[in-house]
Amino acid sequence: MRQLKGYKILTVGLVFLVLVICLIMSWLEPMNRWLPPPNAVSEYVSETINWDRLPQELANLTSLLYWPPTGRNRDDFLASTSPKTSTYRLKSPAQATYTLGSNLEAILVARDHQGRPKIHGGDLFRAKLLGPELKAGVPGEVKDLENGTYLLSFPLLWAGQAQVQVRLIHSSEAVGVLQRIWREKRATVDFRGYFRGRDGTEETVICNVDPQSTGAKGPTCRYSDVVSGEVWFCAQPSTLPCNALVGHSSGSYLKVTTPRDEDLLARRVTDQPLPSGMSPILVTPAATGNMSDMALPSRPPCRPGHLSPKPSGFFHQDRWHSMFCSSRSFPTVNSILNCLAGRIVYMMGDSTLRQWWEYLRDTVPSLKPVDLHVTYQTGPLMAVDTTRGAVLHWRAHGWPLRSLRTPVASLHSVARELHGLAGGPYTVVVLGMGAHFTTFPPSIFARRLAGIREAVRALLEREPSTLVIIKLANTGYKSVYGSDWLTLQVNRFLRAAFVGLPVAFVDAWEMTSSLAVPDNIHPNKLIVRNEVELFLSFICPT
Ligand SMILES: *[C@@H]1O[C@H](CO)[C@@H](O)[C@H](O)[C@H]1NC(C)=O
Ligand SMILES: *[C@@H]1O[C@H](CO)[C@@H](O)[C@H](O)[C@H]1NC(C)=O
Ligand SMILES: *[C@@H]1O[C@H](CO)[C@@H](O)[C@H](O)[C@H]1NC(C)=O
Repeated sequence: MRQLKGYKILTVGLVFLVLVICLIMSWLEPMNRWLPPPNAVSEYVSETINWDRLPQELANLTSLLYWPPTGRNRDDFLASTSPKTSTYRLKSPAQATYTLGSNLEAILVARDHQGRPKIHGGDLFRAKLLGPELKAGVPGEVKDLENGTYLLSFPLLWAGQAQVQVRLIHSSEAVGVLQRIWREKRATVDFRGYFRGRDGTEETVICNVDPQSTGAKGPTCRYSDVVSGEVWFCAQPSTLPCNALVGHSSGSYLKVTTPRDEDLLARRVTDQPLPSGMSPILVTPAATGNMSDMALPSRPPCRPGHLSPKPSGFFHQDRWHSMFCSSRSFPTVNSILNCLAGRIVYMMGDSTLRQWWEYLRDTVPSLKPVDLHVTYQTGPLMAVDTTRGAVLHWRAHGWPLRSLRTPVASLHSVARELHGLAGGPYTVVVLGMGAHFTTFPPSIFARRLAGIREAVRALLEREPSTLVIIKLANTGYKSVYGSDWLTLQVNRFLRAAFVGLPVAFVDAWEMTSSLAVPDNIHPNKLIVRNEVELFLSFICPT
């Protein structure tokens, strides 16, 4: 039985690796051009994964990253989709009231700046159903019919008022720009590497995910993690050796757009509301059913391995209710502590995950931060409650992290850290990555995730009782360096990377797409509280 399960996991793992590799090789032809030659790939990777020998016909991540054609005419700004002229209306005649648990549908017609209907899809619209008096909200589904119209669909999950809100995040033409840059640029940002010699001399160079993007005229230094195979490159300093690299920080945002691109990505056409197309509706409980004010199905306790439906939940009275498991609330300090007691939580990721750590530190007075003198943005951070035996770690994922200057020695590979964990019933691992990978082609994140998946699979095989939670990337940035469109792709990768493994997801994308607050890469405390409560619900399901 155990063995069978192992086989299944192994098979799914292999299939995933194959898919990732085929994606890298076949999804985008231009990518082949930049893929480092085999001898530049770390020894570990080329030994365990043969990038050249995999059958192409398995390449179905093409469908994973499918996006409708965005149109060819990128030069005529007036022909791009406009938030001012695009409209939506109810699909069926308006009703006096709507039944709790049913669905509301609307049709959106995209138009250009001259009011002409679009004839292709590819726009990124985001729609919400909001219930301001009830502090309620849920993301709507936006289905691209690929002919300039979109079907919007909203589940009616609470009784009371509800109001549709739609925003154009990026026109299809702007998505075309993002898509092109994502595929064709090796990197849209660079980094600094700080070298220090024995005599105290310092040199600063450019570093990046591939040698070409270090701007090096001469040789480069190549750093590869022997366990995870992750690689990193810096231009070789003129006087100091490669092993004198001690510091890391973000560098510059590279100029990657043309003036035309910039028009399409300008603030006035990005993340703009569409004119309101529908009056608020009134949702009433079903006449025959019980008079519950929410349409919550009966749900099992929160455990890893559930496939989450869309939407995976909704807000009501400022609380996120999961649609697939009975998410709990942790209203008191004691309820949080009871849940964390005896556990070691390892959080690894970016600053949006650090917000979880900070929320718990700030909410639970007895969780004392330990390293008071550590001032690095990248951690590592630790908070401990000695009486209840709760330990909370956070550390940044490794390269390619945009951060203030930080010691290279404390930037650890996530896969490598995972390989070093014993795991067990009291170990909780939370991974939260994505925002720092939107500035590179998809293969960079795909490779990273292939290594992390392998490490998670091994951890769960060593100790199946280990709890692994994945925080999806949330909404926020709207630029060529980071954008909701890029984040959507990153989240598709994250879901695909862990297919078939018993891990839990916290869908921060949806949680940051459900309320009437402006998007923020660092969401507000209310949202963070709900993310943390869902995370705690997986640790303490009952
Ligand atoms: C890939 O997926 C698409 C849609 O999901 C499907 O139509 C196609 O047949 C698949 N291709 C292969 C090679 O499996
Ligand atoms: C767009 O496609 C949908 C689904 O195929 C169809 O019902 C609708 O009539 C089309 N609209 C236009 C304007 O072509
Ligand atoms: C009433 O509604 C709740 C929530 O939808 C459901 O869990 C419960 O089973 C319902 N009770 C009856 C008697 O229908």
